[in-house]
Amino acid sequence: MSEQKVALVTGALGGIGSEICRQLVTAGYKIIATVVPREEDREKQWLKDEGFTESDVRFVLTNLNEHEAATAAIQEAIDAEGRVDVLVNNAGITRDATFKKMSYTQWSEVIETNLKTLFTVTQPVFNKMLEQKSGRIVNISSVNGLKGQFGQANYSATKAGIIGFSKALAQEGARSNICVNVVAPGYTATPMVTAMREEVIKSIEAQIPLQRLAAPTEIAAAVMYLVSDHAAYVTGETLSINGGLYMH
Ligand SMILES: NC(=O)c1ccc[n+]([C@@H]2O[C@H](COP(=O)([O-])OP(=O)(O)OC[C@H]3O[C@@H](n4cnc5c(N)ncnc54)[C@H](O)[C@@H]3O)[C@@H](O)[C@H]2O)c1
Repeated sequence: MSEQKVALVTGALGGIGSEICRQLVTAGYKIIATVVPREEDREKQWLKDEGFTESDVRFVLTNLNEHEAATAAIQEAIDAEGRVDVLVNNAGITRDATFKKMSYTQWSEVIETNLKTLFTVTQPVFNKMLEQKSGRIVNISSVNGLKGQFGQANYSATKAGIIGFSKALAQEGARSNICVNVVAPGYTATPMVTAMREEVIKSIEAQIPLQRLAAPTEIAAAVMYLVSDHAAYVTGETLSINGGLYMH
């Protein structure tokens, strides 16, 4: 078994995922990065842009919505590395619409990607962590899973579901020294948000007590705290990084 710690990050090429990988590599982790096959051609460019070497990252090319293929691909990567110390469930999508107009497809796509894939990714990792008797799992929720959001009934349902899932898993993992926590970002400057019209972003910023979007580095820093030795007694917790937008 390798001495180097291993972290599996889903949605690794995204705005927040990339920053989480950057901070984990800086802290000495080897990354298992899940990447949807359509992103395949971006892998090499991403490694170059991030200044990572091929030995920093093992890519797992899989659509997490394809349960059997994704579980098999993740299991293969864990077996190849021989260990997994950290899991960050970060992949997520939005399909916004008011509930009145929401299609069943918009509803199901968000449930599939944001919630159902937690089973697919977490079970093989959790089983390995049980065997190792150690591990840290950080699930990425959202401020809108805590407070709800107009036009996001689907997304808010999944992001609240992630919190319930994490609390249950924290109880199952505790005896094996596995801590499971949640980071709930507020509006963060990634393409998911910066693609919005400028006036929409300005109106969002005006509602945030700290008057600005979060930087991806600030979300990744919360993840790094939860996987650090400093957080060894923290489990089942939700850490909000939202500039004061919602205080719970
Ligand atoms: N940006 C924000 O303001 C914000 C706020 C709160 C929470 N979040 C959450 O943070 C996480 C990351 O968001 P982001 O802003 O970096 O988004 P992003 O769109 O930049 O990244 C999301 C990643 O998930 C991957 N993904 C989507 N569907 C997938 C699937 N079926 N299989 C595998 N991978 C898949 C995408 O390919 C992408 O790499 C998400 O869970 C999001 O809900 C973001």
